[in-house]
This record gives sequence, C-alpha cells and structure tokens, in this order.
Amino acid sequence: MASKRPREAWASRLGVILAVAGSAVGLGNFLRFPGLAAGNGGGAFMIPYFCALLLLGIPICWAEWSMGKYGGLFGFNSCPAIFGVLGRRPIWRYLGVLGLLIPVVIYMYYVYIESWCLGYAFSYLMGEINLGEDPTKWAEESKKFFADFVGSDQDGLMLDGKLHVSVVFWLITFAVNFFFIYRGLSKGIEKFCTWAMPAMAICALIVLVRVLTLGTPDPSLPDQNVLGGLAYMWEPKPLKPGDSVFSALADPEVWMKAAGQIFFSLSVGFGVIINYASYLKRRDDVVLSGLTASATNEFFEVCLGGLITIPAAFIFLGAAGTVGGTFGLGFNTLPVVFLHMPGGAFFGFIWFFMLFLAAITSSLSMLQPAIAFFEEGLDLGRRASVAILGMITGLGSLFVIFYSKGLVALDTLDFWAGTALIYVLATLQVILYAWVFGAEKGHRFAQQGAEMRLPRIFTFVIRYITPTYLLVVFGMWAYKSLPGYVEQLGEGGVPLLGVLLIGVIAIFLLILVHIAGMRWGAETRDTSGPEELPDFSEEKQ
Ligand code: ALA
Repeated sequence: MASKRPREAWASRLGVILAVAGSAVGLGNFLRFPGLAAGNGGGAFMIPYFCALLLLGIPICWAEWSMGKYGGLFGFNSCPAIFGVLGRRPIWRYLGVLGLLIPVVIYMYYVYIESWCLGYAFSYLMGEINLGEDPTKWAEESKKFFADFVGSDQDGLMLDGKLHVSVVFWLITFAVNFFFIYRGLSKGIEKFCTWAMPAMAICALIVLVRVLTLGTPDPSLPDQNVLGGLAYMWEPKPLKPGDSVFSALADPEVWMKAAGQIFFSLSVGFGVIINYASYLKRRDDVVLSGLTASATNEFFEVCLGGLITIPAAFIFLGAAGTVGGTFGLGFNTLPVVFLHMPGGAFFGFIWFFMLFLAAITSSLSMLQPAIAFFEEGLDLGRRASVAILGMITGLGSLFVIFYSKGLVALDTLDFWAGTALIYVLATLQVILYAWVFGAEKGHRFAQQGAEMRLPRIFTFVIRYITPTYLLVVFGMWAYKSLPGYVEQLGEGGVPLLGVLLIGVIAIFLLILVHIAGMRWGAETRDTSGPEELPDFSEEKQ
C-alpha cells in the first residue's frame, strides 16, 4: 500500500530560500504594508512592527523550518502528518488540518486579487487605462474602472452569463498556478521562483528609481516632493492631530495590526513553511536559510514596498491621496499616480506585472501543502491531486467572484482564514514545538546541519516570550475585532455563507485526514515520531 512515488526534493539551497522568500513576498508587502504603516504612526509603527518581527515572526519561522525538516526526515510532507510525528498523538494529526485549510482558503481569494494585477498590467500594456482628460475627475474615474473590473457594485455581475474581462484574467491566473503545481516542486515552483524573484526585484527597483527621481513635479506645490514623500511615510507621526508623535505606541490596536502584518507577510502560521521545509535533506541548514528568507521578505517590504507606494502618492496627490485601504491605495490611487507620472503607462505596467509575479510565487506556496497531503495521505497521483484541489479552490474562488458586491465574500474569507485561523495555527505551532516536542530538543535538531548558530536565547523566547506575546495580541484582537464579525454572522447573508464554506472544507479535510491516518496505521507508517531525538547529522545522506 505504500506509495512507490519518488519523494520530491529541492534542487538547490538557493532554490528553497527563493521559494520560501517567494511565498513570503507578495501583495502583503507592496499593497498592505505601506498603507498600514503610513496610517498607524509612520516611523512609530516600525517599533511594534520590529518587535513582532523579532519576537513572533522570526522565532515561529525557525520553529516551522525545524518542524518541517524533522517531519520530512520521517518521510512526511503534509502538516497533519508532520504534526503527528512531532506531537506523537492522533489529535495533533487532526489539528494539523489547519495547515491545509488555511492556505487553501486564502488561495481562493488571493488568486482573484492576483488576477487583477495581471489584468491591470495587461491594460497598461494595451493603453486601456484611460481616465479621461480632466485630472480633477481621475480619482473618480479610477474608482469606477476598478468597480467595473471587479464588479464591486453588484453581486453576480462577474458571472451573469457574459464573459467578463476579469473572469478571463482569473481563468488565466488559475491555469498558470496549476500548471506550475502540476510540474512539481523543483521543476515547477523552484524553477519559477528562481527567475521570478530576481525579475520582481528588478521591476521594483525600476519603479523605485522612477519615484526617487521625481523631484518636485509641480513647482506650485513645493512641499510635494520626494523628500516630503519619504518623510511622510517614515517620520513618526501622531495617530490624531495634537497627540504626541509616538501616540501610536500607546494604542494596542497598532501592536495588533503590526503582528497581523508580520504573520501575513512572512507567511507564518499558514502551514506553508512547514511544508516547504519538509523537502529539505538531512544535512540541510534551517537556521541561516530561515533568516535569509525572512530578511529577503523584509527587504522587499520595507526597502521597496515602503519607499514606493506612499511616497509616490504623496508627491502627486498630497497627504489626502495616501489614505485608503489595501485595494483603495493599490487599485484606485496608484493608477491616478501613474497618470501624473512621466512615462506612467510604462511604469504602471512594470508595477502591476511585478505585483503579479509577487502574488504568484505566494499563491503557488498555498497549493503545495494540500497537493502533498493528497499524494502522501491518500496515495493519489499528481493528476488526481491537482484535479481535486483545482475543483475545491475553483468553487471557492467562484464564490468570491460571484459575491463581489463590496468585496464582502473576499473580506469574510480574509478575516476568518487569513487572520483568525492564522493566529490559531501559529499558537498551536508554538505549543507543539516548544512544549510538546520540546524547545531544547528542537534547538538540538535545528543545529544539525545549521550554517549559523541558533541563538541560545531562542529557546527561552519561543518557550515564554512568543506564546505570551501571541496570546496577548490574539486576545486583544478577539476582544476588538471578533464581536463585529460574529454579529455580522448573525445577520446571515454572504458572511455566513463564507464561514459555512470554510466549515464544509474543514470537515471534508478532517475526514480525509482520518482516512490518511488509517492508511498510515495500516502501513505501520504511524505518524508518531520517536521519544528521543535521532541524530540525523551522523547518518549518511
Ligand atoms: N506572504 C504573502 C503576502 O505577503 C501571502 O502576500
């Protein structure tokens, strides 16, 4: 009954780092981060941000890399099986279902946003983003263009029988994702990330140079210049006029938002890193690789994302132009900014194409965990796994596309899977690694093959500081944000349907995990790891 399929592996060390960094660098870096930082104290936001990075992001990242590699050395690649090996009780296998559910549900809406980026890039290329001759109407026209593109004024608009352009881009984006997934880990994901990451960096640098050389485009508005834009983004500023410049630090919500950004941006608590790390070999390093991938993500987020969007919007539109959520800034404001900019159509194309690449390297990582599970848990072939996952994610994505009014379906899935469940999985991972498996044992394991010493303090941080920090942030978030969303559920409609959809997928996956558990048991491939840590470093490759 055991699968005869050869196990997948990364082709090179650089490949795995680029793939993990590719999973991390995404829309969160370029669209979510700049608006969040600028709106929550600018430079002051970076204090809670770096605290969350050092005490939550990097420690959990290292824990995920170590757990993934450990599970992989027992021949497993899926989160339920790896949790089983580490936790040594069947309950952990069932809890590991979150490592499949979260990426699958996030993919359902993420791929749609990804397709908007492709659609916008294509529209720039074809010169189709034309907001008229009157600059005073551009903001309004840009909003209208976006609303028409995604159907945000009315439910069902995108699936009313006609072939809408955004549905066409969604189909293309969906097919591209599954093409690379079908090709496999090293031939698909790794190969793609190996050229997409440098391409992304080049595109971002081109746009960055353009923004930094804008000078003072309108001499009648001398304050709206490059330095003013950078200062607007990065100088500590009060949350409300009249408060101290560090007032953001006294607001628990700012700390909560910073932590949420770190999770989303690093793809921590997604179930993705654990899966990618499971394809490492015995002597592979996890410490330096984990740090390099996280540092790469921070470079893209702070140095590229943080220097482009908000400064550019400030230079042309002033402080008023920099407000707006992730989508407002990305898809309403930026097209106006590009219209003001010399060579704007070219830079608009480069920018949205770069966003598309950033998104695709992330969405690929959301598909691989479930593929790995179907293959190893149910012994399905690649074709069957891809077909089943394509069907599930396709239906979920159509739900998001159909209920497009106000993007409520997208927001619902993002709240429950992209925020709430991430906190839950991250908490479970910390408990599993630090308390069930054992932080000391984890430390010894992480050192095997490591190219950099794991700081001694890491054991203390992951055991005490990270869980406390996590529970405080999670508690605050549950207190502040949860009641509103729960109330919304009581009113029925799309939010309730969204949660039911997540529930149905969760039950379906739990049943599959149960079946997989029976199969592993029958094969005496029990997913309970040994009590003592085997010394993998001594064994031959
Ligand atoms: N980490 C990915 C992003 O930031 C999901 O978009």
